[in-house]
Amino acid sequence: MGKKIKVSVIGATGAVGQVFMWMLADHPWFEVSYVTASAARVGQKYASTVHWVLPFEMPENIRDLDVREFNFEAMKDAGVKIVFSALPAAVASEAEPQLRANGFCVFSNAAAMRYDSDVPILIPETNLDQLDLVRNQGYPQTGCVVTNANCVTTGLAMALAPLRQFGIKTISVNSYQSVSGAGYPGLSSFDITDNCIPFIKGEEEKIEKEIKKILSINPDVYAYTVRVPVMFGHLETVWLDLEQDVNVEDIIQAWADFKVVTELPSTPELPVVYSAEDTFPQPKYAFWGNPKGMVVYTGRVKKKNGRIGFVLLVNNIVKGAAGGSIQNAEAFVERFGLR
Ligand SMILES: NC(=O)c1ccc[n+]([C@@H]2O[C@H](COP(=O)([O-])OP(=O)(O)OC[C@H]3O[C@@H](n4cnc5c(N)ncnc54)[C@H](OP(=O)(O)O)[C@@H]3O)[C@@H](O)[C@H]2O)c1
Repeated sequence: MGKKIKVSVIGATGAVGQVFMWMLADHPWFEVSYVTASAARVGQKYASTVHWVLPFEMPENIRDLDVREFNFEAMKDAGVKIVFSALPAAVASEAEPQLRANGFCVFSNAAAMRYDSDVPILIPETNLDQLDLVRNQGYPQTGCVVTNANCVTTGLAMALAPLRQFGIKTISVNSYQSVSGAGYPGLSSFDITDNCIPFIKGEEEKIEKEIKKILSINPDVYAYTVRVPVMFGHLETVWLDLEQDVNVEDIIQAWADFKVVTELPSTPELPVVYSAEDTFPQPKYAFWGNPKGMVVYTGRVKKKNGRIGFVLLVNNIVKGAAGGSIQNAEAFVERFGLR
């Protein structure tokens, strides 16, 4: 293969930005050549300004990268083709369309453009065909924007994609969401220590909207989202009404049969892993798997009065955010032959 593709991480100092930096430090196709954060950090070395929150050491080769200003011409001069966005939605809603108009291909975690009809909410294992929507944005004459889903929706979509064959009529989902989902510094420790907060603004509406767009299904969705005092990983309990009368073994088999369509560096061989252990899964396994944090774990499957219930775990900042975006960029590079 040829040279690595130069990429930028914008919002590189936040919770999601740090995962981008950690995963891209040693990526076989991509090389980080331009890093931004808010204006106050411009001119500083990445390691000296970031408050590193990941449970791994910061990779050596990203420590001395300069935090630079958000400037299209400077990004072009640095050879950037792909931009990974970890900006807050309000900032992204201005920055991302401008990046696209300037020819960059943006892979974003922000909700700002997710609901535009020509913007895919991509999860390569579940809806790879939606990648072609970038042509409706004008790609390759312009750049493009590809988003990934809200973190809870990502876990749910992964577990449900192999169950679509049974006809999904209703989804009831309750989430137990870690504090890293609120970014850094996030919630006050006064509010979340020894406590749970049964409201996350906008989250339940996002789940309902996004699961329908990603899986092209139209079930009734009932969601509650709760913030819990856990650092990483979102747990979800799910109940489904299905059109077909399936049993627990059919569900487990469907997950086991859910194999990867395209081989991408950040895609695990088995993307949904089930265990029959009574106490599985738990957020403390959020970084399990290969690549770390990219596997969705399921457990506790049961059937009652014709309904199917189960528990799932998704790493909100890896598969549910930066790792998902990197996987999307890999799918894009493969699809449009950019390597
Ligand atoms: N956390 C998750 O689990 C998760 C999951 C899925 C999606 N998302 C989405 O991903 C995005 C990032 O989330 P996060 O949790 O990483 O947030 P965060 O920790 O608050 O980080 C935000 C990043 O954006 C930068 N930034 C803030 N305001 C800016 C401005 N005006 N101009 C330029 N840069 C600015 C920050 O720089 P400074 O450090 O200099 O302030 C920081 O690097 C959000 O849209 C969020 O909704 C998050």
